[in-house]
Amino acid sequence: MKTLPISREQAWELVKKYNTHQKDLTHYLESEAVMKELAKHLKEDEVYWGMLGLVHDVDWGITKENTENHLTKAPEILKDAGFDEEFINIVISHGYGFDVAGLKDKKRTEKIQYALAASETITGLIHAYALMRGKRISDMQSKGLKKKFKDKTFATKVNREIIKECEQLGLDLNEFFEIAIEGIKKIKDKVGLE
Ligand SMILES: [Fe+2]
Repeated sequence: MKTLPISREQAWELVKKYNTHQKDLTHYLESEAVMKELAKHLKEDEVYWGMLGLVHDVDWGITKENTENHLTKAPEILKDAGFDEEFINIVISHGYGFDVAGLKDKKRTEKIQYALAASETITGLIHAYALMRGKRISDMQSKGLKKKFKDKTFATKVNREIIKECEQLGLDLNEFFEIAIEGIKKIKDKVGLE
């Protein structure tokens, strides 16, 4: 098991120091939940993967006015909190391909990088689908989610290509959908779902 410099609760306080909008906080909790569930499924380190999900957008609240600055503040914030370079580099890799922090031309190459990118992205699709279903996630099926994945007019901002990076983890879309739904179901009360 990899060591982390701060506890989950300390990390959550750090995230809340730089982020105040409930919608953003919900996204972080869901990303954490999906990463943990994924780690469990892949027999990886649940605590480490969960931490990555929880803090991956730590500087979003202070950079979203100028999105190209997203992930420019995160390295310093995380370094000050004691996180090592390896951890920080994984966090940054979820911005590869986007016009943020000069990361547009970078490509993910590692399993844990694909995991973080796909996990934080699937949360948007699942949350939007749950809201459409009257906030219900308890009986959500991967089949229904797959339809929304294919429907390009639904949750248009959710990047389907990044979700497909789950295939780099040896999981097909249906398996990944099941794992992600399962993860978010476990924290449904904390993210306003039923
Ligand atoms: Fe995110």
